[in-house]
Amino acid sequence: MCGIVGYIGKRRASPVLLDGLKKLEYRGYDSAGIAVLDQGILRVVKRQGRVEELGAAHSLDGCIGIGHTRWATHGAPSARNAHPHVFRGIAVVHNGIIENAAALRALCLARGETFLSDTDSEVVAHLIAHAFCGDLLSAVIRAARELTGSFALAVLREGGEEIVCARKKSPLIAAAGEGESFVASDIPAIAASGRRAYILQDGEFARLTAEDVQLYDENGALIAREGVVLEEGELAPDRGTYAHFMRKEIDEIPRAVQNSLFSADYFQKNGFSEVLCQTEYIDIVACGTAYHSGLCAKAAIEELLRIPVRVFLASEYRYTRPIVRGDALTIAVSQSGETADTLAAAQLAKEKGCKVLALTNCARSTLTRMSDLLLVTGAGREVGVAATKSFQAQLAALYSLCAALAYFRKKRVPSPKDLLPLCGQSIRESAAVAGWAPCFAAARNVFFLGRGADRCAALEGSLKFKEITYLPAEGYAAGELKHGALALADETTPVVALAFDERLAEKTMNAVHEVYARGAPVFLVTCFPALCGQKEVSSFVLLPACEPAFSPMLSVIPLQLLAYETAVFLKNDPDKPRNLAKSVTVE
Ligand code: F6R
Repeated sequence: MCGIVGYIGKRRASPVLLDGLKKLEYRGYDSAGIAVLDQGILRVVKRQGRVEELGAAHSLDGCIGIGHTRWATHGAPSARNAHPHVFRGIAVVHNGIIENAAALRALCLARGETFLSDTDSEVVAHLIAHAFCGDLLSAVIRAARELTGSFALAVLREGGEEIVCARKKSPLIAAAGEGESFVASDIPAIAASGRRAYILQDGEFARLTAEDVQLYDENGALIAREGVVLEEGELAPDRGTYAHFMRKEIDEIPRAVQNSLFSADYFQKNGFSEVLCQTEYIDIVACGTAYHSGLCAKAAIEELLRIPVRVFLASEYRYTRPIVRGDALTIAVSQSGETADTLAAAQLAKEKGCKVLALTNCARSTLTRMSDLLLVTGAGREVGVAATKSFQAQLAALYSLCAALAYFRKKRVPSPKDLLPLCGQSIRESAAVAGWAPCFAAARNVFFLGRGADRCAALEGSLKFKEITYLPAEGYAAGELKHGALALADETTPVVALAFDERLAEKTMNAVHEVYARGAPVFLVTCFPALCGQKEVSSFVLLPACEPAFSPMLSVIPLQLLAYETAVFLKNDPDKPRNLAKSVTVE
């Protein structure tokens, strides 16, 4: 998603801004730009493509500036649509969506103003310029009242000596250092040990000068709040000797799992006892990979505890008038804790009277602030756009919740802790998938097949494969294949079959026979050695056995690696897949 940086201090702003934008690259973007006040005059450089394209910005002088990476929503990716947008000496960078942009634009056009881009954001510069009567903060506050939708804004004024910021439903953090201040949409862009950070809340504004950061409410009244001192762990991550963050993050799965397992004691001490004793219904709301974690949790909780679990795509939950029981526990799963659809779904569940449990990897995210109960996974920063270790971390937390539900009901289920030593082993046993990459890179379509929990893993495998290889892939219920999709099976359609449940493995192998008979090469991921020798199987990954209901924690590992190896074989950058963003803060 879009990224914002801003700097005011004694140093030249442009290198600081370009460095900040590089640190936000992992979020995904398609154009970039910066604006610097050079002796009070606004200088702007904008380009389509990567931050490297902003080379001309190096020559900009001046110690105050704002920068932006744009992920196109309104208007094509182009230099023209890149931010900052400037109108009458006001430069604006914006994250989010201005929902009433068309109406506001019409008003501006009626005043005889002209627009230079197709974006919803440009109108913000017009509104601020229009509201300006000598004080930028007041102008931004007044303009913000006109806007509906979501926004994080950083604003400069020609001749000014400040940056003014605003936040509504889109993250923004200001930070104060020694004689300099920063603003960014994400901590890595501004983090340096010892800086004091101020996380803006919805409806808050900030004024940054070289000396200080000050926060204001929507009436312009000063807010007294102590900033938090940034720590080492929040600084920009290091790829080490790895070629890509994604590969490094797969190797970090064992630690992510270890840091995301919670004991019954933890649940007891953190206010979960009543909910876990009483909950009869569970709803899960999430998007993408987090949705697949929810499906895996459903498979485990229903299988082991017979507690009904419904899993909703958050974007559907918010608009399809779900029939919600007020006594259901609603679990909102989100790595970033900033996904707009998941936040809206959690809010709706609260309004329906449900207790909301937030499961997130980001302790200071918006989701944590709106939840009744909180589980923070310990995956550490995930830089690769494609979720990897955060998926297994979510499963560790959700399986821990399953074990805690059993504990509070005096039932017994296998301990998710048993999975921990098997994660590292599964990474090692998955090395064979590197050899599968040429076949998958040449595929016209790919199937990932399974039943039960294996099907949930298959869905995540296909999502990972699609997002970084740019090849079509489908996660499919093995038994459903012959009801239509088998028509696609031929020698150009490699099939990955998953089999971790003894009761279902032979049934899944029926689907393997069906696709093999149509010429499809078959790759098996299983814990059953006997299946690996079957003539239909071109190649296999044999993983350690575990409780079948918990097996996606292991079985997804070779699928993540397969997607990675195939993307690298195709010379795609797996860390920054095209069109995608790390944290989807617009709906
Ligand atoms: C896929 C991926 C996305 C996210 C989805 C939800 O690899 O990363 O599908 O899982 O955008 O994001 P969070 O978990 O931050 O809510």
